[in-house]
Amino acid sequence: MIELKPRVFSGMQPTGSLTLGNYLGAMINWVAMQTTHDCIYCIVDLHAITVAQDPAELKAAIRRAAAAYMACGIDTQKSIVFNQSQVAEHAELAWVFNCVARLGWLDRMTQFKEKAGKDKERASVGLYAYPNLMAADILVYRATHVPVGEDQKQHLELARDIAQKFNNDFKEGIAARGYKDGVFFPLCEPMIQGPATRVMSLRDGTKKMSKSDPSDLSRINLTDDADTIAKKIQKAKTDPEPLPSEAAGLAGRPEADNLTGIYAALTGTTQDAVLKQFGGGQFSGFKKALAEVAVEKLSPITSEMNRLGRDPAEIDRMLAAGAARARAIAQPIMAEVKDLLGFVR
Ligand code: AMP
Ligand code: TRP
Repeated sequence: MIELKPRVFSGMQPTGSLTLGNYLGAMINWVAMQTTHDCIYCIVDLHAITVAQDPAELKAAIRRAAAAYMACGIDTQKSIVFNQSQVAEHAELAWVFNCVARLGWLDRMTQFKEKAGKDKERASVGLYAYPNLMAADILVYRATHVPVGEDQKQHLELARDIAQKFNNDFKEGIAARGYKDGVFFPLCEPMIQGPATRVMSLRDGTKKMSKSDPSDLSRINLTDDADTIAKKIQKAKTDPEPLPSEAAGLAGRPEADNLTGIYAALTGTTQDAVLKQFGGGQFSGFKKALAEVAVEKLSPITSEMNRLGRDPAEIDRMLAAGAARARAIAQPIMAEVKDLLGFVR
């Protein structure tokens, strides 16, 4: 009987710079999981081109993301780190999944509706099919655990549906190969945990902090220097009331909720503890303290990213080595997929 082993896979898009949302929502978890699991961390450049990208900027953003992964604590000896387009099996399996997933499933994806906006006729086909590629990213390694932020939950449910349909559509072949319980592709588990699974915009506490927000003041980038971080926090939107002393007082106050949540996540305490300390006080004093902890936590990461960024050739070598390790896992799985489908190879 062939039984699948636990394996972690996750990815981030190389657009702009990684944000505090990426860091608290996903990266902290990625780093922690290295001690307990075999991990594959991808820079998903094929996902990035679902919307227009400038080629020179994309190349820089891929290297910047690689430097950010390492600066945050991803160990490239232990974990596999690479950019997606270097491993052709991602795109190959995504095509198979385009033929497994149903239009009705993709029609339900809320992120497509948000990203395509009003004029969805003009969105790329890739933006629509993106969740199928994401399922392929995970399943081409038969990954079982996927650490992500809250916004990716729906895409992971789709990946499970695809795995289940594939396992069912080809169940005879899968059984003949001796897969335990007919599981060829695992139903991957989302790991939505960590200090802050949903960090909100500094300009609007009801919107996700995002790399693609037109306002740079809405986010803290891992590339921001200390003055920029302090300025962005100082300008962050608030409301006129003093901070509440307990969590119940945060209802209907998304900005207060977000900023105190960020403080708690950065200092490794609870929001209750933060409110106990700052409750009753004005935002101005709290913001000074928040800027201090943000700078203290992020500036070592930023300076390490800058150091690594000075040697792009070394980053490229690291990515190529990671891609070779990734291919060694993906190729035999893809070969089995082809056999199951009935392709001659
Ligand atoms: P992306 O920047 O969309 O490629 O996201 C990469 C990872 O960071 C995913 O796991 C997201 O769920 C997570 N992430 C992105 N933005 C946020 C945010 N504002 N709060 C929490 N997690 C986030
Ligand atoms: N879609 C994810 C995002 O925008 C990035 C991603 C692509 C991903 N492939 C993945 C995350 C596979 C986890 C697993 O954040």
